[in-house]
Amino acid sequence: MMLAHTADANCTRCHANLTAVAADTHVANAIHSFVDGHPEFAPMQPGFANDLGIKFAHAAHMKKGLLGPHGPVQMECSDCHRGSADQGDAWPYGAQMQQASLTVGGATGGIAMPPAMARALAEDRGRAYMAPATYATGCHDCHTLKFDAHIAEEAPHAAPGQVRAFVAAKIRAFAAAHPEVVAAELRNWTTVEPTERVPRAPLMAVPHNAPEWVTVRTAQAERRIWHESCNLCHETQITEISPSATVGELAAANQNPAMLPKLTTTHQPVRWLTHAVFSHQAHESVGCGECHTRATASQNGTEVLLPSITSCRHCHDGESHPQGPALATGHAESGCFLCHEYHGWDEKGLRPQPVKAESLRELGLLVNSH
Ligand code: HEC
Ligand code: HEC
Ligand code: HEC
Ligand code: HEC
Ligand code: HEC
Ligand code: HEC
Ligand code: HEC
Repeated sequence: MMLAHTADANCTRCHANLTAVAADTHVANAIHSFVDGHPEFAPMQPGFANDLGIKFAHAAHMKKGLLGPHGPVQMECSDCHRGSADQGDAWPYGAQMQQASLTVGGATGGIAMPPAMARALAEDRGRAYMAPATYATGCHDCHTLKFDAHIAEEAPHAAPGQVRAFVAAKIRAFAAAHPEVVAAELRNWTTVEPTERVPRAPLMAVPHNAPEWVTVRTAQAERRIWHESCNLCHETQITEISPSATVGELAAANQNPAMLPKLTTTHQPVRWLTHAVFSHQAHESVGCGECHTRATASQNGTEVLLPSITSCRHCHDGESHPQGPALATGHAESGCFLCHEYHGWDEKGLRPQPVKAESLRELGLLVNSH
């Protein structure tokens, strides 16, 4: 059912020839309708910068038979992307988050709620927009933060200083609880070989007693976690320790804040198109790939995956003239009022209800049904 709406003419009387009312405007000049003269959305225009600070390739994760925690899996978009209203539901590859920490500001024990999720919940955008993908909900089970073969617990997903404190405390506690293991390793010390992601030579310092074992083991664990874990997903500046550092030098490095890696801050906008409104929920029967056509194939985290205006025009095709109930005419509404709230215009009660798959299918609007 279509509710009250504003005729395009209320907007196009200016927007069809905008420079007549605002000579110096940067806004598109000749918009006659959504399908005639409406510009492509800004993020899809060439030259738009989009570095969210996370190294992530959608293609590598959407491929068939990706190695999951218990064998091959096929990931779905909603394994990582959900609206804030659905953040509290179970996540197939997410860490067990403490129930208590799922309330804003209540990060107590267990895996704490990531700040990105806390912000999403605080903004409470329901199901209209997607909250940021987080490590705890979308990455954890496949990319754990283990740091030492002796220790089952994982480092917290937190600032490097907190990770360091945790790693050092756990290795110290292990040495105190298992002196026999430490003694055996001291008698037969082998350095830990470099791996694919820890490119440089192994640390050569040889420990001679339990405190020295703790020092060397801690330095190795730090080196591994910065390179293998943090640097996998974050732009990370790591200050290397010399492979020939002595035990004393390693002990100093383990304490030195200047030796902590520096991570580029991540940021995932919840709203990209701030001059328009959008609702994922209103399109819940439309497949993600119909609008985000390039997500599955994206090789590179800096690629913009938002929809082009072309994908909207497939349904919002300007054919519902005179503006009226889209579902009666077989085309989705294309009037300005559908997507824009502007000039203090009160849009209360103007939003149509979510559409169901059946009605879209009847209209031939659903291409990839599922
Ligand atoms: C009286 C003239 C006038 C009318 C009527 C008008 N606009 Fe605008 N609009 C402008 C001008 C001028 C700008 C550019 C402002 C600038 O350059 O910063 C603008 C900018 C915009 C923008 C882009 C920037 C922003 O602030 O959101 C949108 C979207 C927009 N108008 C939508 C609408 C819609 C939808 C309607 C009808 C409900 C409408 N306008 C009616 C004059 C008008
Ligand atoms: C394994 C988790 C994961 C899966 C599965 C996933 N994404 Fe993402 N997505 C991310 C992360 C992390 C980011 C932020 C970093 C980036 O942009 O690469 C992101 C960013 C995005 C963005 C906005 C940022 C941009 O660069 O344009 C869109 C849109 C998006 N994903 C759509 C999808 C769609 C559609 C699917 C399913 C085909 C999907 N994603 C599957 C993790 C995932
Ligand atoms: C279901 C398991 C699974 C989940 C969940 C998962 N990954 Fe991965 N990821 C993998 C596997 C397996 C590889 C190695 C893939 C390959 O080399 O083809 C990988 C590789 C990567 C790589 C390195 C190669 C590349 O694609 O750039 C990055 C970075 C990465 N993942 C980030 C993430 C982030 C960020 C998330 C959460 C938003 C995430 N992964 C969630 C399984 C997963
Ligand atoms: C598998 C991918 C992955 C790994 C490994 C990873 N992170 Fe993250 N990290 C993310 C994602 C995605 C976000 C953004 C949302 C969130 O989870 O808070 C993030 C956010 C953060 C934040 C919050 C601030 C910000 O910039 O958003 C910190 C701090 C952080 N990571 C530190 C680390 C450290 C330190 C390590 C290594 C011990 C690490 N991360 C390992 C994916 C990863
Ligand atoms: C009808 C088209 C359409 C469909 C279907 C769609 N999206 Fe979007 N998506 C958009 C638009 C438009 C935006 C930009 C909204 C904004 O932030 O202004 C967006 C933004 C996003 C973002 C960035 C965060 C945000 O909300 O702005 C992610 C992530 C995303 N979509 C994932 C998905 C996933 C996952 C699905 C399937 C469950 C999906 N989308 C289905 C049109 C669509
Ligand atoms: C189906 C949704 C939809 C409809 C219908 C629609 N728009 Fe837009 N419009 C958008 C989106 C999305 C943007 C991008 C907003 C952003 O980048 O923040 C946009 C951007 C704009 C801008 C800013 C362009 C610029 O140069 O920055 C103007 C002006 C505008 N629309 C006017 C109109 C007018 C007038 C109508 C009716 C004739 C209309 N729109 C119909 C979705 C729509
Ligand atoms: C598969 C068809 C389809 C596609 C593709 C599609 N839409 Fe829609 N959309 C609809 C239908 C149907 C409605 C319900 C409104 C109506 O009755 O016409 C709707 C409603 C909306 C609404 C009102 C949402 C609300 O709050 O209820 C907005 C805004 C919107 N679409 C924007 C977009 C944008 C932007 C795109 C492109 C990124 C897009 N749509 C792509 C079919 C589609």
